[in-house]
Amino acid sequence: MKATAIAPANIAFIKYWGKKDEELRLPTNGSISMNLSNLLTTTTVEFSSKYKSDEILINNKIDEKENKRVENFLDKVRQMAKSNLRAKVVSENNFPKSGGLASSASGFAALTVAATASIGLNLSKEELSILARIGSGSACRSIPHGFVEWFEGNDSQSSFAQSIHPVDYWNILDIIVIFQKGDKKITSTDGQKLVKTSLFFKERLNNIKNKIENIKELIKQKDFINFGELVEKEALELHAIMLISDPPILYLQPKSIEIIQAVWQWRSEGLSVYFTIDAGPNIHLICQEKDQKQLVDKLQKIKGIKYIVNSPTVGTRLTKKYLF
Ligand code: PMV
Repeated sequence: MKATAIAPANIAFIKYWGKKDEELRLPTNGSISMNLSNLLTTTTVEFSSKYKSDEILINNKIDEKENKRVENFLDKVRQMAKSNLRAKVVSENNFPKSGGLASSASGFAALTVAATASIGLNLSKEELSILARIGSGSACRSIPHGFVEWFEGNDSQSSFAQSIHPVDYWNILDIIVIFQKGDKKITSTDGQKLVKTSLFFKERLNNIKNKIENIKELIKQKDFINFGELVEKEALELHAIMLISDPPILYLQPKSIEIIQAVWQWRSEGLSVYFTIDAGPNIHLICQEKDQKQLVDKLQKIKGIKYIVNSPTVGTRLTKKYLF
């Protein structure tokens, strides 16, 4: 049977960076995120005896390394379903790949839901989140709706993501400022392997549980200013950790710094906007919906950038549209 799923990417307010089990992708800490309405992956999967080997097409391209990762994931699905059927997979993003735009999160979330439906596995939301996590850690957070918590857990069964608030809970936006497309030089999988060499990592772990409790409380109270300040500090902490990894990782570029300094300037002028940054140079601006116009007016004056406006959105869902 053919099945198609649509999955959103997500932005983490408290980040996942470091694994305590590489293969199972068990994180060293929990994380908190929001699904993004305009960063979507659509994937159609068909398991059938008519395919002699897996046929995988992602964004109209065949990339050997990426296809291998997808095949390994399909093996996992076959193992769960006790099947040896091969599959055809066609997947498309509506946004540029990599550059810190969480394409692996939406990619593996969509693949999880489409592949399990196609092979006839009937999994709960929790089980889907666990399976997506094995594909790509942050993908587990794209399965549930709205605002999401990924529990660190101590084994595979206890490390999954759950919705903490629905989509329409809070009208905040993530306006992503994009100036770099294409693949980044160090993937997040490789970057995360270095985290233990970073002197600040131990300090981060000492404080992370408090941070998660604090951010959840600020979201609950809809305290945008304190929320924004914590989100921004968290992003800077993440990039400080990357910078003193051995060898160092520097994702930021001159344009990233320009946008960060513009955010601080706009804030000093009274505009309530904060930033966060994933494993890439592009900057995510977090603001309230009421300030969208004012912020977009400012962005339109900056040369060499594009932006994508995202509101909180639903998690991964099946659809009747097929890509082949
Ligand atoms: O799931 P991965 O391996 O792409 O790692 C995601 C890492 C960050 O985006 C930097 C943080 C996060 O929690 O999304």
